[in-house]
Amino acid sequence: MSEPLRVLITGAAGQIAYSLLYSIAKGDVFGANQPIALHLLDIEVMNNVLNGVVMELQDCALPLLKEVIATHEYPKAFKDVDVAILVGAMPRREGMERKDLLKANVKIFKGQGEALNQYAKKTAKILVVGNPANTNCFICRKYAPSIPSENFTCLTRLDQNRAQGQIAQKLKESNVLVSSLDVSNVTIWGNHSSTQYPDVNHAVVNIQGKAVPAREAVKDDNYLDGAFIETVQKRGAAVIAARKLSSAMSAAKAICDHMRDWWTGTAAGQWVSMGVVSDGSYATETGLVFSFPVNISGGAWSIVQGLSISDKAKERIGITLNELVEEKNDAVAVCSD
Ligand SMILES: NC(=O)c1ccc[n+]([C@@H]2O[C@H](COP(=O)([O-])OP(=O)(O)OC[C@H]3O[C@@H](n4cnc5c(N)ncnc54)[C@H](O)[C@@H]3O)[C@@H](O)[C@H]2O)c1
Repeated sequence: MSEPLRVLITGAAGQIAYSLLYSIAKGDVFGANQPIALHLLDIEVMNNVLNGVVMELQDCALPLLKEVIATHEYPKAFKDVDVAILVGAMPRREGMERKDLLKANVKIFKGQGEALNQYAKKTAKILVVGNPANTNCFICRKYAPSIPSENFTCLTRLDQNRAQGQIAQKLKESNVLVSSLDVSNVTIWGNHSSTQYPDVNHAVVNIQGKAVPAREAVKDDNYLDGAFIETVQKRGAAVIAARKLSSAMSAAKAICDHMRDWWTGTAAGQWVSMGVVSDGSYATETGLVFSFPVNISGGAWSIVQGLSISDKAKERIGITLNELVEEKNDAVAVCSD
């Protein structure tokens, strides 16, 4: 067996972490032969809760879990980590404005960027989940210049999974029985917010072994250009309205999907969506953390190039791009206060 992979999870006493830790410690993400050392960070007032989580991890009796470090101190938490999943943040409550959330959270990610820069391995792969995820990731990367930009990503896989789920559900209405996994190459463009653009123009549905373009399978462009997009954009808010808490089980699953694909690669001919540092592709601003379609191979992602983008799609991408530029400018201002 190899050396344990050091995986930091922040917000480890929170609800997403509660669903996430078991899957990671059990080998669902980094493989059935990869020993794991978990570094669990939360704030000091959560020490008791975090201790309870550590007890439960011990009680799970997981053979791959070699070590658990639970702490509220950055030097211990970030020391030599190979992977950092940054979940801890103030969650969005019902009715809360994104701008208020941004102010509260961006400073956390400045501090964690600095901690990554100082303590983590230079090869560490980082996934930012805490909202506003794209902008938090932008700030984190800005304050961790010794780690390559391509190692910073943010989570939009939940939006992708939601989009695949909606299409599979819609097809059931016309008795086409497929699962979310039969739907591929949906793209989430832009911000993990209600301006994101879930794009089905290149999506494909596997129907009884045959690859059918999603528009042809669904046969309802009004739905795909209207209710579908709105449902995916507002799904997070709908879950909050119903549960009075933000998505946790589905977020944890999406984190696992994102990290596993980053580790093991995407299937031939298929892409996934990840928030990554833009190289200016598709007329976006270089340096922004923007969700793109990516192929992954050998642990490295690359933005899928050459997709045809209609004028309507360009307009939607422009809306989410403008929001991200504004968020970034606000975040940079907050950090230099
Ligand atoms: N990108 C996505 O797709 C996505 C999806 C769902 C939720 N989220 C976001 O994930 C975040 C966590 O959600 P949750 O439901 O687990 O929230 P939660 O409130 O249950 O847990 C958050 C945890 O983070 C901790 N925390 C706060 N500040 C911290 C800091 N500076 N360092 C370490 N830990 C800290 C809190 O004490 C708490 O235990 C929220 O920002 C939420 O909006 C993102």
